[in-house]
Order: sequence, then C-alpha cells, then structure tokens
Amino acid sequence: MTSTQPTFALNRDTAIPAVGFGTYLISNDDAEAAICAAIQAGYRHIDTASGYRNEETVGAGVEIGLAAAGIARKDLFVTAKLWPGNPAWGDAAKTGAQTIAECDASLDRLGLDYFDLYLIHAPYGGDLRLEQWRALLDLQKSGKARSVGVSNFNKQHLEEIKDAGLSMPEANQIELHPWSQKPDLIAYMADNGIAPIAYSSLVPLSTWRVEEGQASAKTDQMKADGTAFQEMAAKYNVSEAQLLLRWGVQSGYAVLPKSLNPDRMRQNIDLFSFAIDDADMAQLGTMDRGDGVAWASGDPSK
Ligand SMILES: NC(=O)c1ccc[n+]([C@@H]2O[C@H](COP(=O)([O-])OP(=O)(O)OC[C@H]3O[C@@H](n4cnc5c(N)ncnc54)[C@H](OP(=O)(O)O)[C@@H]3O)[C@@H](O)[C@H]2O)c1
Repeated sequence: MTSTQPTFALNRDTAIPAVGFGTYLISNDDAEAAICAAIQAGYRHIDTASGYRNEETVGAGVEIGLAAAGIARKDLFVTAKLWPGNPAWGDAAKTGAQTIAECDASLDRLGLDYFDLYLIHAPYGGDLRLEQWRALLDLQKSGKARSVGVSNFNKQHLEEIKDAGLSMPEANQIELHPWSQKPDLIAYMADNGIAPIAYSSLVPLSTWRVEEGQASAKTDQMKADGTAFQEMAAKYNVSEAQLLLRWGVQSGYAVLPKSLNPDRMRQNIDLFSFAIDDADMAQLGTMDRGDGVAWASGDPSK
C-alpha cells in the first residue's frame, strides 16, 4: 500500500512522516512480524533505540516489510537513538568516539547504512553531553545520519548546546499529549527551529501500560480520569486513541504510536479524515498537568 501522509521538515533535505511506529516494549519474539505489518499497513517511519534491545529483530522486520510493501529503503524513515550512558546508574557516559562506534553498531544490528534521524536518547551524558552532541554532528557530516537531534532534553540542556556555539538539534523527542503539553519548552524549541516529536501520546488512555512490569508514573487520579476523552472522540466518530494522536499531529508534532494489535495499528495511522475543531483544540489546551509520566524514574530500559 502507498502512504501519502503529511510530513514535517527537519532540515532542507529531510522531512519526518507525521505518524511513526513505536517499538519500545516490543519483544524480540514479536518485533519482526510487527514491524513488517506496520510497514504493510502504511507506516513510513519506524522509531527504535539501542535501549529497547530489539534492534536486530526490528531490522529484520524492516527488511521483510520493505519487500512486502514493494518500497525502497529511501521510502522509509528510520529513527534510532544513542544510549548515552548514565553515571548516576553506574553506567559510564559515552565519549565522542564511543558515540560514533555505538551508531555504527546500531546500523549494523538494524542492517542499515544510514539513519534518517539519530538522537541522543536522554541528557544523561553529564560532562560528556556536548562531546556526544559534537559526535552526532560528525555523524551527520559523514552521511550516517540524515538529521540529528535529542530526546528528553529540557531548555537548559538545549541552551548548553547554543552557548557552546554548536548547531542546534533538528528535533527533540519528548512526552507530549494533552496532559503534558510543555508550553515553555515547545515555545523555546519553535524559536530555535527544533521540531517536536511526541512520544507516549496515548498516556491518558485508561488502558495505557497496565500490564505487569510496564513502567509508568501515572497517579491514581490520572487512572480514574482515563476516560476523559471519550465524549470528544465520539463527536468525531473516532476512538480516544485517534483523538489523542490527531491532537499531536494537528499541533505540529510527529507521533509514534506503538501497537501489536492489527486493528489498532491501522486505526492509529488513520488520522487524516477528520480534524479537531478550534473549540475542542482550545479545550484540550486547558488539560495540561505538567511533566510526563512515561519515563518512570529508575527505568533503565528507555
Ligand atoms: N525517547 C523516549 O524516551 C521515549 C519514551 C517512550 C516512548 N518512546 C517512543 O514512543 C513510542 C510510543 O510510546 P509508548 O510505547 O510509550 O506508548 P503509546 O504508543 O503512547 O501507547 C502504547 C500502548 O497503548 C496501547 N494502544 C496502542 N494503540 C491503541 C489504541 N488505538 N487503542 C487502545 N490502546 C492502544 C498499546 O497496546 P497494544 O500493543 O496492545 O495495542 C500499548 O499498551 C515508543 O514505542 C517509542 O518508540 C520514546
């Protein structure tokens, strides 16, 4: 199937599809078939990370998915992430040379020769944070990454890059949904040409990460309020998930829903036959509850 979904520009030559397929918490048993099915369903962006420990099986899914959909590598956008280390967890921060080696290792595991977007997964590099960023700029120069960015960086982390006189990230992948809108960070990113990419868009669903062992810092109140979007979704004859994802793309954010369920996989990419009206966008704008919940503290796997 062809896919004609909108894109958001990251730089002069690179644009990111509005809907990507997330791969966090997809096991190695499921990844190959899930990624292949996602590509066949029309997803043209796969979001992965070395920290998800499934790059080899995701790569196998990409290979068979491209063949099954009859499309070329250039028709798919792939995001990968550097695990930067985290001295606070006894995991030494990566040097610039280790950053380059880690990108090469990820390319190898995924069976690819470039990434469309390579990100620093989190601002955990401490004293080596800027060195890691310089290494990403080198990876872009060498063609291994078409665009480069960061994830989970706040304004101070971004200012550190600016103060060092380095090119700014082209994207910052952060938790964004009506309960976590981060207006100050989004405004700063807009002023500095940094594209927002939204992860964990489905946090407000009552069913989000309820399975045993899936980390989340959702409060009991949030769990109780988990059906807050039902009425609005019914007005547009869509699911709550589609409403939440549409809020993201309509706000100008690429989104990355993950689903292993074929119906939900299809539903989550079907976001362009309706639009949330101005009054409802304004109402959703009032629902901000501050920081996100997806990155529960102490979870080293993200
Ligand atoms: N950079 C970072 O630090 C970071 C952090 C978190 C996530 N991410 C990226 O963003 C992606 C998405 O975030 P996420 O995985 O946290 O959560 P998500 O995509 O917001 O939500 C996934 C959960 O919602 C369920 N779901 C999916 N579609 C649904 C639908 N239409 N109706 C009802 N339930 C639905 C899924 O279960 P089923 O599979 O059973 O459908 C799963 O439990 C990740 O996979 C990863 O690629 C990045």
